[in-house]
Amino acid sequence: MRHLLTTKGLDSDTAITLLDVAEDMADVADREIRKLPTLRGKTVVNLFFEDSTRTRISFEAAAKRLSADVINFSAKGSSVSKGESLKDTAQTLAAIGADGVVIRHPASGAPQVLADSGWIDAGIINAGDGTHEHPTQALLDAFTIRRRLHGKASRGKDLDGVTVTIVGDILHSRVARSNVWLLAGLGADVTLVAPPTLVPADTSGWPARVEFDLDAAVDTQPDVVMMLRIQAERMHGSFFPNSREYSRRWGLDDARFARLGTDSIVMHPGPMNRGLEISSMAADSQQSTVREQVANGVSVRMAALYLLLSGDREGTK
Ligand code: CP
Repeated sequence: MRHLLTTKGLDSDTAITLLDVAEDMADVADREIRKLPTLRGKTVVNLFFEDSTRTRISFEAAAKRLSADVINFSAKGSSVSKGESLKDTAQTLAAIGADGVVIRHPASGAPQVLADSGWIDAGIINAGDGTHEHPTQALLDAFTIRRRLHGKASRGKDLDGVTVTIVGDILHSRVARSNVWLLAGLGADVTLVAPPTLVPADTSGWPARVEFDLDAAVDTQPDVVMMLRIQAERMHGSFFPNSREYSRRWGLDDARFARLGTDSIVMHPGPMNRGLEISSMAADSQQSTVREQVANGVSVRMAALYLLLSGDREGTK
């Protein structure tokens, strides 16, 4: 693998390899010394043009656990705020000798531009681009589902027949897009539930069905309910009457949570709007994987960095 830009088109064998390597990395986290020498001498740059807590710190932890040198770059406080272009920024990173660039950008497609540009010969990992994709989030979600279902016997397994309901702001969600492609590619049966105003205009090519009634979806007792954040910062119009109305119809509130089977897993990528898309009872329950998702993110990102950067980059694809 030369870059990790999207889960659309990521074949299931490669996805399972990534998840299996992440299992090996999780074993490292259980050791007294949680460090491997694998990426000693390599430089990883975290290039963040948008805010992040979980993704940025887990990529930093992942790179450090693999003994890479890490440079954290945030657009705020850098020469980007003076108008420096992505090309000039990339060439600056090339001059520093970056081997891997983890990029989050508000523009959909920015990581692909960087990967195709020839401005820098580094492995590029998409850490979330606009409303397009967030592949490592989907991988850590798949890893979390697999572990909840199979525990330590997860290696080599896909998600055949697992029912996953993704709820909320699908329109603005790169997490939803990456999960639809990855989870369906691994054999899961994916349903999207949202207000009609928060569903993209054309989902006919997506490997998922679209529904609008969360109560009906809850009554099917899906294996996984994944709640999405309402992305107010990307909403330049009125997509639902008000927060109370949204929560009443599309929130995982206490009553809906109580109706879910105790075997159903409740997921959220974070950051959560408690009381809007998810209640605290649901978020803090035994069924919730919110904190596991964050911990698993380190293992999955170690796997991605390892697979991209540990070999000879010449001849990789
Ligand atoms: N889930 C996720 O991408 O969170 P951050 O925005 O905090 O990185």
